[in-house]
Amino acid sequence: ISSAVSKGPLAGKRIIVTSGPTHEPIDPVRYIANRSSGAQGTAVARALTALGAEVVFITGPATVRPPAGVDVVAVETARDMEAAVQAALPADAGVFAAAVADWRVASASNRKLKKTTDGQPALTFAENPDILRSVAQMKTGRPELVVGFAAETNDVVENATAKRLRKGCDWIVANDVSPETGIMGGTENAVVLISATGAETWPRMDKSAVADRLAAKIAESLTKEPSR
Ligand code: CTP
Ligand code: CA
Repeated sequence: ISSAVSKGPLAGKRIIVTSGPTHEPIDPVRYIANRSSGAQGTAVARALTALGAEVVFITGPATVRPPAGVDVVAVETARDMEAAVQAALPADAGVFAAAVADWRVASASNRKLKKTTDGQPALTFAENPDILRSVAQMKTGRPELVVGFAAETNDVVENATAKRLRKGCDWIVANDVSPETGIMGGTENAVVLISATGAETWPRMDKSAVADRLAAKIAESLTKEPSR
């Protein structure tokens, strides 16, 4: 009897989890990034693994360490992350917790930018691929359950409900990251789970508790048939 065969409600299910920020280079020594620590995505990957899932954990340069027992794919940029997600398909579910940079520098310099006497560098930007949207809108081979996150600073439910429809994902885990909540970079999260059937407000709790509850919901959804 192999101890490598996992047990639990998600045994035999393959789930892609994206996590952390992405770094978008300006030149070989500088980059554009965001304040994501990777804590929530890491907690989700750990919780799914604990329920027996085979997790492919695709992470940008996070400050927290990846959980044990997952297949780690470390990436830097949004485009790297997109390629890693495509390579990891097919999967039963995808949970897109990464804080993907919306823009990259249109043409990163392959030499360090130097101070000159004629002023500051003018950076121009290009939009990054929307990884969640491309998976959610796959015509064939789409994961059965596609879950996005939405960090908002205002009108959380309205913005996230519109985002769910625009992206074409099944669920959005929405949270308020306005500075006064202290959520960005903290250990707790307060989320609203938005699906086709409405919005479910969860109390503020540890990111690990949010992850456990989300993983349990994912297990329920992947092991029953009906509408989500
Ligand atoms: N996402 C993604 N690829 C991107 C941008 C976002 O996969 N290039 C995913 C995130 O991982 C998250 C969801 O999409 O699950 C929502 O991210 P968010 O930044 O809230 O959405 P955007 O469409 O970028 O909208 P906004 O203008 O509010 O940033
Ligand atoms: Ca964004």
